[in-house]
Amino acid sequence: MTTTAPAFRALGSTGPRVFPLGLGCMGMSALYGSADRAESVATVHAALDAGVTLLDTGDFYGMGHNELLINEALRTAPAAARDRALVSVKFGALRTVEGGFTGIDGRPAAVKNFAAYSLQRLGTDHIDVYRLARLDPDVPIEETVGAIAELIEAGHVRHIGLSEVGAETIRRAASVAPIADLQIEYSLISRGIEKEILPTVRELGIGITAYGVLSRGLISGHFSRDRELGPGDFRGMSPRFQGDNLHHNLDLVDRLRAVADDKGISVAQTAIAWVLSRGEDIVPLIGARSRTRLDEALGALEVTLTDADLAAIEDAVPADAAAGERYPAAQMAHLDSEN
Ligand SMILES: NC(=O)c1ccc[n+]([C@@H]2O[C@H](COP(=O)([O-])OP(=O)(O)OC[C@H]3O[C@@H](n4cnc5c(N)ncnc54)[C@H](OP(=O)(O)O)[C@@H]3O)[C@@H](O)[C@H]2O)c1
Repeated sequence: MTTTAPAFRALGSTGPRVFPLGLGCMGMSALYGSADRAESVATVHAALDAGVTLLDTGDFYGMGHNELLINEALRTAPAAARDRALVSVKFGALRTVEGGFTGIDGRPAAVKNFAAYSLQRLGTDHIDVYRLARLDPDVPIEETVGAIAELIEAGHVRHIGLSEVGAETIRRAASVAPIADLQIEYSLISRGIEKEILPTVRELGIGITAYGVLSRGLISGHFSRDRELGPGDFRGMSPRFQGDNLHHNLDLVDRLRAVADDKGISVAQTAIAWVLSRGEDIVPLIGARSRTRLDEALGALEVTLTDADLAAIEDAVPADAAAGERYPAAQMAHLDSEN
């Protein structure tokens, strides 16, 4: 826990100011194996109690499960904490009953349909930040963003966000309406945004909410070579968690651990503090599913990385050091941010 209140960070020049770490709630419903609902709700409460304001979800995380969980957590939180909470929702992913992903829908009518259902599940009268999860190749981004702008006009949404899109799409979106933040993967081992995307959002006054800061647990210091992954666990098909790649990547974590040990902090805190150090316009989303993990993550706010620390971290985990892409090939091909 932090001893002094950490400075809030702005989500771009038009978005809200938020606690410097957001809570990503995805793993409480999907993609990282089974989660304990009571502990998930307790983790949201503990995060709000610690000052966290931004909760991130997607309507497709467990096909509505995650939004209902957030509804329960906010309903049972103290009123003051509930009033401070801001909910960021991704939409657009199409699912099957079995849980498969079959595409993305960014048509204006679909945007309003998704929003209507999300508001019901969340039990709120507005969504604080609303964003298409992946670019719909069949719908110009201007149309999708225009539909969210109409939801803002109607009072159902407060701010527009983007997710995993590249520089050109960001510019097109920003030409329609103010964009608060871009949500995108960014970590010690996923630095692809630094070349073009980060300079573009900075030029346009758009913030970053960074996900995968621990590379889905891979660089948290808690992932082991022999860990069994259950069915439906994203990491079971993620290139970075396979065979030789996993061994190589965990060797990098061992190198990072040596730096963390010297500083008397944990590996996860080192990785989170590194992302925090990359700019005041970046808000890491922490995928904690338990109060123990949350406490560890919050500890990163007390870490100051000196130039010598940053050099040691760079030496341990140079850019592009990871083995394997951040998504399976088929998903990489659909990422506007990678093309
Ligand atoms: N826009 C997008 O395309 C997109 C994609 C993915 C995620 N997101 C959002 O970003 C959020 C965070 O992403 P992520 O879950 O991939 O992030 P992450 O923080 O890189 O990974 C979370 C995993 O790391 C493990 N972990 C170990 N130590 C931890 C610690 N101290 N604190 C937190 N986690 C720790 C947890 O596993 P155990 O619980 O097993 O310990 C957890 O499942 C998601 O919840 C979601 O809201 C957005």
